[in-house]
Amino acid sequence: MAIQQKFFIQTFGCQMNVYDGQRIAAMLESKNWVSTDDISDADLIILNTCAVRAKATDKVYSALGRIRRAKKESALLGIVGCVARESGGDAFRRIPELNFVLGPQSYHKLPEIIKNPDTKLLNIDLGGLEKFDELPQMTKSPTVAYIPIQEGCNHCCTYCIVPYTRGRELSRPFDDVMRDTINAAKTGAIEICFLGQNVNGYKYTDANGKLYRLSDLIRETAKLPKISRIRFTSSYPTEMTDDLIEMFGTEPKLLPFLNMPIQSGSPRILKLMNRPDDLDNYKNIVKKLKSVRPDIQISSDFIVGFPDETDEDFAQTLDIAQEIKYINSYSFKYSPRPHTAAALMHNQISEQIKSVRLQRLDFQLNENQREFNISCIGKEMICLCEGNDKTGRHLVFRTPYMQQCIVDKPDYEISPLQKIKITDANKASLRGEIIK
Ligand code: 5AD
Ligand code: SF4
Repeated sequence: MAIQQKFFIQTFGCQMNVYDGQRIAAMLESKNWVSTDDISDADLIILNTCAVRAKATDKVYSALGRIRRAKKESALLGIVGCVARESGGDAFRRIPELNFVLGPQSYHKLPEIIKNPDTKLLNIDLGGLEKFDELPQMTKSPTVAYIPIQEGCNHCCTYCIVPYTRGRELSRPFDDVMRDTINAAKTGAIEICFLGQNVNGYKYTDANGKLYRLSDLIRETAKLPKISRIRFTSSYPTEMTDDLIEMFGTEPKLLPFLNMPIQSGSPRILKLMNRPDDLDNYKNIVKKLKSVRPDIQISSDFIVGFPDETDEDFAQTLDIAQEIKYINSYSFKYSPRPHTAAALMHNQISEQIKSVRLQRLDFQLNENQREFNISCIGKEMICLCEGNDKTGRHLVFRTPYMQQCIVDKPDYEISPLQKIKITDANKASLRGEIIK
């Protein structure tokens, strides 16, 4: 019997990358490869990379530095994803041991390097949706299935490298998304999370001229008996159309939690970011959402220290964070990226000021999270089990608001969805008891 070839894959970055990593693994497994966690034993090493901030790119190159010393000499080494697209052929110059550099829309070309290991393979083309058709269907789904419905972004926020790395926005055909969703439900998914850089901008027109939106995908998915929870990420504020807002009122499987990044609370900075700068409109969307689903909570991403951001601009960011009472949010120091307009702007902010602002914003976001977590004590929520914690004595659940809830492990088998009474809370997580 032939010895089975082994692959090692490490994924950095967003959920879209996690999905891409799963597809790459499924593709290799369908060709009889097996996965390994041991770099020194792998015949094929793939880093699935993120380029959204300079730190993310640096992480990839320092990992490559370690890996090239630890790997077998014969092992093939390559990068896929956004750093591949960001660096292009320059990656081969920086790391001569690299065998392949494949962008986020060309990783289905991976078998070519396996067939021709003595060549160097560079493909960072924006191939659109081709990869989705060329990869095999997954035969097993995790409990939470991430399903991309569109890729790329047309908004061109001035700080963001994504329109360069993932290209113009393309929505996948409605039937293809539903085929993947039904397949996920059949093979173990309980929760569906629709993915896209601009997920609520999903628009697909079929051959008969019928237009499908994200609300149609949600309505259709909610009909699947095996699916109990539906969510989507990440939403662009001005694409939050009324049909989608209404879904929160009419579709109980849609979780009462929405990721709708604002990035800054200053209209002046939002304009420089090329983001929607009408804060009243943003607040009005939140108001409409609360009117159809009073228990809804919103999360956001924030960037501090964008070029020309003054103390007054930053104070407006603190104000909006306080007003909307975001939960589960992320904040980042602005990081100049190649191929973006903001990297060339005047008045770049010093690292020191960025650090102070980040600390202040994080403090406030953490306080909001703590307050919300504490307000959950005594409530009962249907939560989804993610598995054991590190000790093996507890189970980790996700609430409908994506909070982590720790529960003592029962001595009997349970199904993954459980009604849980929240008994305690801190900033980071909740404690709860299963209600029998
Ligand atoms: N610097 C810092 N943060 C960034 N993000 C995107 N580009 C940059 C950048 N150049 C953040 C945004 C986005 C999240 C995914 O990453 O907040 O919503
Ligand atoms: Fe980047 Fe998101 Fe802006 Fe698109 S909407 S350019 S993905 S930050």
